[in-house]
Amino acid sequence: MLYIGVDLGTSAVKLLLMDEKGSVKNIVSKEYPLSFPKPGWSEQNPSDWYKQTIEGIKELILNCEKTQVAGISFGGQMHGLVILDINDQVIRPAILWNDGRTYEECDFLNNVIGKKKLSQYTANIAFAGFTAPKLLWVKKNEPENFGKIDKIMLPKDYIAYMLSGIHSTDVSDASGMLLMDVKNKCWSKEMLEICDIKEQQLPTIYESYEVTGTLKKDVADSLGLSETVKIVAGAGDNAAAAVGTGTVGDGRCNISLGTSGTIFISSSKFGVDKNNALHSFAHADGSYHLMGCMLSAASCNKWWMDEIIGTKDYAKEQECISKLGDNSVYFLPYLMGERSPHNDPSARGTFIGLSMDTSRADMTQAVLEGVAFGIRDSFEVAKSLGIKIERTKICGGGAKSLLWKKIIANVLNIKVDVIESEEGPALGGAILAAVACKEYESVEIAANQLVKVIDTIEPDQEVAKKYEIQYNKFIQIYPTVKDLFKVL
Ligand code: XUL
Repeated sequence: MLYIGVDLGTSAVKLLLMDEKGSVKNIVSKEYPLSFPKPGWSEQNPSDWYKQTIEGIKELILNCEKTQVAGISFGGQMHGLVILDINDQVIRPAILWNDGRTYEECDFLNNVIGKKKLSQYTANIAFAGFTAPKLLWVKKNEPENFGKIDKIMLPKDYIAYMLSGIHSTDVSDASGMLLMDVKNKCWSKEMLEICDIKEQQLPTIYESYEVTGTLKKDVADSLGLSETVKIVAGAGDNAAAAVGTGTVGDGRCNISLGTSGTIFISSSKFGVDKNNALHSFAHADGSYHLMGCMLSAASCNKWWMDEIIGTKDYAKEQECISKLGDNSVYFLPYLMGERSPHNDPSARGTFIGLSMDTSRADMTQAVLEGVAFGIRDSFEVAKSLGIKIERTKICGGGAKSLLWKKIIANVLNIKVDVIESEEGPALGGAILAAVACKEYESVEIAANQLVKVIDTIEPDQEVAKKYEIQYNKFIQIYPTVKDLFKVL
C-alpha cells in the first residue's frame, strides 16, 4: 500500500509518497507566501495552504496506482491560530508560530495568572508564538472576530478538516496551544476559562497514529482517490520529524534546522523543566518529549544569502569556509525575536566583532555558527536537567549542508547521525499513516525499522575546544545588548 505524508511548513508544503516498506516513491514541494504585516508579525492564508496541498497531492500521485493509496497523515507548523466561523469560513489570516505580537498577553499569562499555575495546568508557560496568547490578542484587538469563532484549529488540522470534515488534532500539536493538560492529554478547564473559550470550539484530541476519518467524497473524486483513504491525526512538525528521524523511545535527540531550529529529546516519561525553558510536550509515539525552539535557524542563512548577499548558490558561499572555531565575528540569530531559552520577542539579529579584515565568508560562517550556538543554549538547559546526550539525528533544509552539520557536531561536541532521508516531518507523517493503517504495531517499531543512519559526523576535539571558548563569548553578547533591543 502507499502512504502520503504532508509536511505543512512555513515556506512550503512538502509531500512524500512512501510504500509500506518505507521506500520513498516521490516527493513534491509547493511554496506559498508568508506575510509580515507589521514588524514581528507573521501571517499566512489557510486557503493558500490548502490549494497548494491539493495541487501537491495531485502531482505526487500522478504516476502511482491510486487504488494503492491507503492513508494520509501530517506534520505541521505548530502553534498557528486558525479560526473558522459557523459557515466554516476562515475569519482572519492565521497567526503563525513565529509571530511576536502577543507580548502583553504573555505578560498577563506569565505574571498575572503566573507561571506556576500555567505550568500546573499545561506543563508549560506562555511564549509569544503559542496559541492561547493569540486567542487573548484576538479577543482584545479584534472582538468582532473573536465573537464569530465557531472552531479553533492548528494549521495541519485545517488541512485535515478540509480533507475529511472532521475537527480533530493530535496530542503533540495540541501541546503547543497552552490549552492542553499535557500530562493527561485533555483540554485544561482552567485554560479554557482564562481564554474565554468553550470545549466545543476546540478539536477532539487523538494520538498521532490514530485514524480520525476518511476523505470526503468530493475531495476524493477531485484527487482520483477512494473515499476509504484514511485521514490520520499526524503530529506537530517537530514530533513528526522525530518519527521521521527515528527519534522515538527514551532519551534520543533530533536537531531540526528548518525555518525554526529545534532540539528535541524523546522521553518515555512525562517531565517538566522546572524553569520551563524547554517545552514539555506529548510525543507522536504515545510518550512525551522536551524541546527547545529557536525562531530563526535555516531562515537566518536564507535571509543572509537571498536578501543580503543576493545569491541562490548557498554551497558555493560555504566552499571557502575552513577555519572552524577561529571566527572573530559573532551573529545573534534573533531575526524574529527568540523563544528558547530567552523568551524575548523584542530580541533582534546582530553582527558583532566586525573589522576591516572581515570577509563575506567570515560573516556567512558567523551566521551558521550563531544558529549552532543558539541550539547549544537549549542543549545546555537539557544538560542542566541531568539529560545526557551523546549523539543526535539531524533534519531540515539546513541539514543538507555538510559544513553546518560539522559546525553543530563541534559546537555541541556530540556525534551527528546522518539519515538516509532528511525529509523529517513528511516522512514522519507517512510513517504515522502506515502505523494507523496497521502496517506496523507501533510508531517505535515502524521508525526503528524504516529509518536508516548512513553516516556519522564525529566532533574533532581540537575544533570542539575552540568552539567551547567561542561559545563562552557568545553567551555574553545577548545579556549585554538585550536592553538595547527594547530601545530599538
Ligand atoms: C516549535 C515551533 C516551530 C514550528 C515551525 O515549537 O514553533 O518549530 O513548529 O514549523
